[in-house]
Amino acid sequence: MSLRIGDTAPNFTVNTTAGEINLHDWIGDSWCFFFSHPADFTPVCTTEMGRTAQLAGEFASRNTKPLGLSTDGIKEHLEWIKDVDDTQNTTLKFPIIADPDTKIARLYDMIHPNESDTAAVRSVFIIDPNKKIRLMMTYPMNVGRNFDEILRVIDALQIADKNGVATPADWIPGGKVIIPPSVSSEDAKAKFPQGFDEIRPYLRFVDVN
Ligand code: BEZ
Repeated sequence: MSLRIGDTAPNFTVNTTAGEINLHDWIGDSWCFFFSHPADFTPVCTTEMGRTAQLAGEFASRNTKPLGLSTDGIKEHLEWIKDVDDTQNTTLKFPIIADPDTKIARLYDMIHPNESDTAAVRSVFIIDPNKKIRLMMTYPMNVGRNFDEILRVIDALQIADKNGVATPADWIPGGKVIIPPSVSSEDAKAKFPQGFDEIRPYLRFVDVN
């Protein structure tokens, strides 16, 4: 059965470059950026792993733990991390799951057979502290992901949860957010005493910064 937004992220216990982890226990009270890549020692993946490592501080400031996966083994991962550190000028510290039997990749539908029977495509799952899947994105093997977008969507989910709002197209932190139509104007006045712009009764913007 395919996974959907709002589902509980399937739990598993697995070997990683940082030892054995149980997904739900490891996430704890944090958010998780769980992402797959096709293979170790490949160029696009090397840049993505390097970027994730370089952004360690950005993920930490969002209370978000990165967790990588490929269908290679621990030995290959550990060797490759040395290359990632060397070539991307970073120190990779987040865990990478070893999934040589493709068990976790298949659980999360990361294997797309028309691309490869054994290697994962570039899947992203953002998982919240309640272990719910909040976002899913899938990129092809030959296109590296945009990490500004990954951080942006974590920001958007967190500001939405905190304030009971939604975010408009191309929102970036600091921008105005949307009061959902489920909130009446009367309730909105009480909830947002700073005031809001009502363009239409269903289109209302508020500054929550
Ligand atoms: C890469 O990471 O460069 C890559 C991996 C698999 C297929 C295509 C590109």
